[in-house]
Amino acid sequence: MQARRIAVMASGKGSNLRVILDAVRQGRCPVEVGLVLSDKADAGALAIARAAQVPRVCHLDPRDYADRAAFDAACADRIERAGCRWVVLAGYMRILSSSFVRRFAGRIVNIHPSLLPAFPGAHAVEDALAYGVKVSGCTVHLVDEVLDGGPILAQAVVPVRDDDDRASLHARIQREEHRLYPATLARMVTVGFDLDGRVVRWRDGA
Ligand code: GRF
Repeated sequence: MQARRIAVMASGKGSNLRVILDAVRQGRCPVEVGLVLSDKADAGALAIARAAQVPRVCHLDPRDYADRAAFDAACADRIERAGCRWVVLAGYMRILSSSFVRRFAGRIVNIHPSLLPAFPGAHAVEDALAYGVKVSGCTVHLVDEVLDGGPILAQAVVPVRDDDDRASLHARIQREEHRLYPATLARMVTVGFDLDGRVVRWRDGA
């Protein structure tokens, strides 16, 4: 297993994957993207990964497997065979089975478009608007068995405007995601962190 090698799992357009790959290429994020894996054949993330010549790019179809655990085990095997230490979720829209989470305990990272613990789940931006919060943002966190509930690595705040709709707020949140995710991955593999219960303590004390 390579200490700085990551597998990125993505189901969607892949803008977070794109900025991670850009940051790696520009020397701002010293990780190595060893594998990009998607559950969707038409995910933009797959095309981005191929264009960037990621060494292993693969689509696995959940319908080819008996259940969630079997699909996740196939993904986990690919990740281990690729020698990846970290699993980076970037718009991966499937809930991970407990067996997958346990297999990579403390090594799975996700980005979520709200200030957790507010608005977990798949409709975070809509939920924040409907609730009427005046600030939202994004959270990079470790993944445990509670949906969007793992220890928080980093957060960024985005003000909510009175005339925001889902698209406008999500676009501004994504601008922050694109800054925060590569920067947090870089700190993760350089500075490192310890866990004090569910509290992340960065080893540089910042
Ligand atoms: C992001 O907003 C992220 O917070 C959420 O899914 C979205 C993925 O966007 N988990 P993209 O596919 O990286 O553009």
